[in-house]
Amino acid sequence: MPSHTCSTGIDIDRFIEIRRHLHRYPELSNEEFETTRRIRDWLGEAGVRVLDYPLATGVIAEVGGIQEGPVIALRADIDALPVQEETGLSFASTISGKMHACGHDFHTAALIGTAYALKEQESQLKGTVRLIFQPAEEKAKGAKQVIDSGALDGVQAIFGMHNKPDLPVGIIGIKEGPLMAAADGFVVEVAGKGSHAAVPEAGLDPIVTASHIITALQSVVSRNVSPLKSAVISVTKLHSGTAWNVIPDKALFEGTIRTFDDEVRLQVLGRFSQVVEGVAAAFGTTASVRWIEGPPPVNNDPALAELGFAAAADVGFEAITPVPSPAGEDFAVYQREIPGLFVFMGTAGPQEWHHPAFDLDEKALPVSIGFFTNLAVRALEHYRTGREVSL
Ligand code: NI
Repeated sequence: MPSHTCSTGIDIDRFIEIRRHLHRYPELSNEEFETTRRIRDWLGEAGVRVLDYPLATGVIAEVGGIQEGPVIALRADIDALPVQEETGLSFASTISGKMHACGHDFHTAALIGTAYALKEQESQLKGTVRLIFQPAEEKAKGAKQVIDSGALDGVQAIFGMHNKPDLPVGIIGIKEGPLMAAADGFVVEVAGKGSHAAVPEAGLDPIVTASHIITALQSVVSRNVSPLKSAVISVTKLHSGTAWNVIPDKALFEGTIRTFDDEVRLQVLGRFSQVVEGVAAAFGTTASVRWIEGPPPVNNDPALAELGFAAAADVGFEAITPVPSPAGEDFAVYQREIPGLFVFMGTAGPQEWHHPAFDLDEKALPVSIGFFTNLAVRALEHYRTGREVSL
């Protein structure tokens, strides 16, 4: 394959090679030790400063460094999924049962490429770009680990992206406000009373109760949430009983709730508990809800979205306003601390995220590197100017 360059003038084949290496050796959340070592080496090769923060996995690095200038952050997630790969690619995962099925290998390679491109113009940067290679996104834990390590201290704004299989290469999805959903989980246990299957009046049937609860929960989205807003409640697991002729004493079900703003999130979680407890009581049983709190909604800062549109135009790529995704993303956790912009990068993949045949078009690498390099430069300028004006 002939060597080709992206709009920043750097050799893109190097980053395709890096992406493929990461793809061959996927590591799960908080186990990204080898990935971490490789990222440090690759950054070191370009002379990018790696910083010392207390993180077991993940890498924090920096380019630029005018003392009095602003600090902005670019973030990529680095972890893989417990999925058995079925792509048949020449660089498919060599580790059984583990796969970069969400494209975080692409995100990592793109951020390394951006670091290289920014390094080449380091002396002209009007501030500092902090590079966050975040662990454990898939478990929605990594952003908090990065924040707890202190790596976000002093950062004024943060930028990140997710590849998007249903958008063509060269298209960048940029949207102010909600882009991805809060992703909360629930585990409900219904406690009844067991009995002989032929003598139901002697027991309190948790299976009938759980069935009514699950049916009644469908009314929360259809009857309580405004038709102009949206939410999802999905029950994905249901367990009860051990034999055909015994009414068990308990039933358990699990699932997820997705919402796009805090108000609807609180409303749906509140109604969920009322329906579970109320229906259980109507059947003479009791039920408890255990929440698995997920990340809040990804909510983009309007001024930063505008910067994103300008950066896309600068480097000649088309920016569109995408349809929000009901998937969750722990980038949202940073946005609770500082303003942030999360975008979708068109990668024209054959399958959606987390599918065993997930893949992406590597031609999106130069798009991503060109866009984020420009965006970082623009963001530093934006914050520098903003500061001068505010003085
Ligand atoms: Ni992902």
